[in-house]
Amino acid sequence: MKFITVDTYAELSRKAANIIAAQIISKPYCLLGLATGSTPIGTYDNLTKMYEEGDLDFSTVTSVNLDEYIGLDGSNDQSYRWFMNHHLFDRVNIDKAKTFVPGGTVADLAAEGAAYDARIKELGGIDLQLLGIGLDGHIGFNEPDTFFTGETHVVDLHPSTIEANARFFNDISEVPTKAITMGMAAIMQAKKVLLVANGPKKKEIVEKAFFGPITPEVPASILQLHPDLTIIFSEQE
Ligand code: F6R
Repeated sequence: MKFITVDTYAELSRKAANIIAAQIISKPYCLLGLATGSTPIGTYDNLTKMYEEGDLDFSTVTSVNLDEYIGLDGSNDQSYRWFMNHHLFDRVNIDKAKTFVPGGTVADLAAEGAAYDARIKELGGIDLQLLGIGLDGHIGFNEPDTFFTGETHVVDLHPSTIEANARFFNDISEVPTKAITMGMAAIMQAKKVLLVANGPKKKEIVEKAFFGPITPEVPASILQLHPDLTIIFSEQE
């Protein structure tokens, strides 16, 4: 595990973008695992700048996102598909047909999960997975539980996650209570994992997850078993 502490969010974002750019440059036909949430926004801004300046080419990149809310389709501005289009895909030369987000409005969610995992396998597995971390230790939407789940599956969001995500909605009652998320198998099988955590409010959970016991009660703690894990933590928000 490589644990990098930086002072500012700007530095976190620059460093994370440099690692992702290095991945794309060294393997242009790569599969990137991407995350939403507020932390990666600065990373996506830096990647966009690199593209605009002619230093990065996304045309051969394929991506798979971690998760999506149940009940929101891509035209809803709270959906994670919309978030990715807005913060990255519409700003760079990635082929949108090669960007995948689990479907939150399909009738058969179990089949959607199985198909998502099969697609990741067919694509040769994830080369680099970008992750944030929830205040309760979730990665993707793998919430604290008594066991780790391997496959892409539907979850009930934890009250603290609903509360944390309410800042993106007009009212907490509008926050979906369920999501479909990639499970631990695809995340742990990624060749590299890069986790970004921003500011003092994430300090306690970062310490628990990476310096405490490995337990499904702190889902991110499973990453201690990953052979190529980089964490970037910024002291200030
Ligand atoms: C997002 C995701 C979540 C977030 C986590 C942290 O796709 O899977 O696990 O990474 O909730 O969110 P922020 O960055 O908003 O603190």
